[in-house]
Amino acid sequence: MGEIIPYDKRQGVIWMNGEFVDWADANIHVLTHGLHYGSCVFEGERAYDGAIFKSREHSERLQRSAEMLGFELPYTVDEIEAAKHETLKRMGLDNAYVRAVAWRGSGQMGVAAKKAGINVAIAIWEWGDYFADKMKGIRITISDWKRPQPDSAPVKAKAAGLYMICTLSKHAAEAQGYADALMYDYKGRVAELTGAHIFFVKDGELHTPTNDILLDGITRATVLDLAARRKIKVRQRDIMPEEMKDFTECFVVGTAAEVTPVREIKGIEFTPGDVTRALVEDYDKLVRRQLVTEPAE
Ligand SMILES: Cc1ncc(COP(=O)(O)O)c(C=O)c1O
Repeated sequence: MGEIIPYDKRQGVIWMNGEFVDWADANIHVLTHGLHYGSCVFEGERAYDGAIFKSREHSERLQRSAEMLGFELPYTVDEIEAAKHETLKRMGLDNAYVRAVAWRGSGQMGVAAKKAGINVAIAIWEWGDYFADKMKGIRITISDWKRPQPDSAPVKAKAAGLYMICTLSKHAAEAQGYADALMYDYKGRVAELTGAHIFFVKDGELHTPTNDILLDGITRATVLDLAARRKIKVRQRDIMPEEMKDFTECFVVGTAAEVTPVREIKGIEFTPGDVTRALVEDYDKLVRRQLVTEPAE
């Protein structure tokens, strides 16, 4: 793997609070509320062939996440949309990762920070596959951390604070040679990965965890549509860990992961088969606008 250029040492422009600034100048003060107290929400999006996939859905989710953390974005969804598209154009990229982020600023320090000020930024960079050897199928382990219960945190927000356990989980997984970690939830159910949702296949049917405490995944919803178009039956239900050995195929989905086959979950093996392959292909065609989407019957 090539050397990673530090993210603060890259070239280009970043949209920050309504204007374009040089990449190197998109800085914040060390006394920023979002940094100290986790008052920060964000989006991860991908552009394919010059168009951001499901861009508006992402901007709307950013707005909802901010509301769940008790603040209002100082820009409308339309303004964020325009800023993202202009940033993509100015960066001269066709295939890229899009990061929109909103946070409480440095106007006030302390737990209460209504006057801290709200900031929004958009950065876009070139990006490839999230998982190395994606199509071979990834190996994942089980995290020691559990997704929190809905009265412990705003679990539906794509909020920075919720990623603390994801970073711990992913680092522990990588230290053991796995690509990622599957997290159970506070009830012990199979939940999601550190940045993706999970699907299983048995007898040609899809099984995926109930969405009550999971992030409302944009890729998850897309894959559910694609499955409906193929008339693949989907069971959204509580899945307990002891059931995993009964599934034949497994794959994970997310903006970054796209549709990635799984070949092992900590000793339980899966063989990517027809259902996984079909959805990998459909998703790829859809994001590249080679699949006409009409509502599924
Ligand atoms: C914890 C978690 N689950 C699932 C996903 C997948 O969501 P989406 O398909 O909206 O990217 C993400 C990525 O945003 C995530 O961070």
